[in-house]
Amino acid sequence: MTAPLLDVQHLTVVFDGAPAPVTAVNDVSFQIAPGETLGLVGESGSGKSVTAFAILRLLQRPGRVAGGTVLFEGRDLLALPERDMRAVRGARISLIFQEPATALNPVMRVGDQIAEALTVHGLASGGEAQARAVELLEAVRITDAPRRARDYPHQLSGGMRQRVMIAIALACHPPLVIADEPTTALDVTIQAQVLELLRELKATYNLAVLLITHDFGVVAEMADRVAVMYKGSLVEQGPVRQILRAPAHDYTRNLLASIPGR
Ligand SMILES: Nc1ncnc2c1ncn2[C@@H]1O[C@H](COP(=O)(O)OP(=O)(O)O)[C@@H](O)[C@H]1O
Ligand SMILES: [Mg+2]
Repeated sequence: MTAPLLDVQHLTVVFDGAPAPVTAVNDVSFQIAPGETLGLVGESGSGKSVTAFAILRLLQRPGRVAGGTVLFEGRDLLALPERDMRAVRGARISLIFQEPATALNPVMRVGDQIAEALTVHGLASGGEAQARAVELLEAVRITDAPRRARDYPHQLSGGMRQRVMIAIALACHPPLVIADEPTTALDVTIQAQVLELLRELKATYNLAVLLITHDFGVVAEMADRVAVMYKGSLVEQGPVRQILRAPAHDYTRNLLASIPGR
């Protein structure tokens, strides 16, 4: 077996507060191999986003990691100096959010925002970064990319904005993308198109993806393996096909029951 790209062991996150601290993520362990997609699925409030934020060290107080390790490319991210962590974020692990409208800068042309991702990490600058931005817009299937690069976010549809977010996430060719409910805010048709795009890009770039969703249907379509999260703990994990065929946990059975056409 190849060494995992990401190896999360015994991750525990608490939110300090009165009357008692809340354990939002409780002793969670999983691995992702290079090029693999792991679906992290669970109902709202089960701890999925907090897990992602802990991995990227983006937790805000009163949240804090109370235990565990996050090995990525052989280094424990939880022990890295913040300076090194900044080089990991965006360049080695990038994040796609649910709501592209709030993640994009409203007063900056989308081409410049993609170019900035390259410039910040020292991968290109000036005209070369602009040219790469247009190529990336083409890679995420935005038609008329040279003209669209000059648009502001509000001039694009929700689906196109999410494609721009994906272009930014891919700009530095990271080996791992964390996609947190990437299609939840989109209409069903657009959702299917964005998932199709993600599938294509995964293959093209040999991307590993931590795909976070409350929707088991998305996992069934996209993921190789799935980890099911319930109230801060992983209740089961395994290959998607196996869990679809024989879910071990009642909670998983309930999630499966909500997939249309099953
Ligand atoms: N800012 C916060 N302050 C206190 N508790 C929080 C905060 N953010 C998240 N939590 C706790 O963490 C739990 C998991 O949240 P989250 O990871 O966002 O869930 P989801 O699975 O929907 O992404 C919540 O149910 C809540 O108990
Ligand atoms: Mg969430």
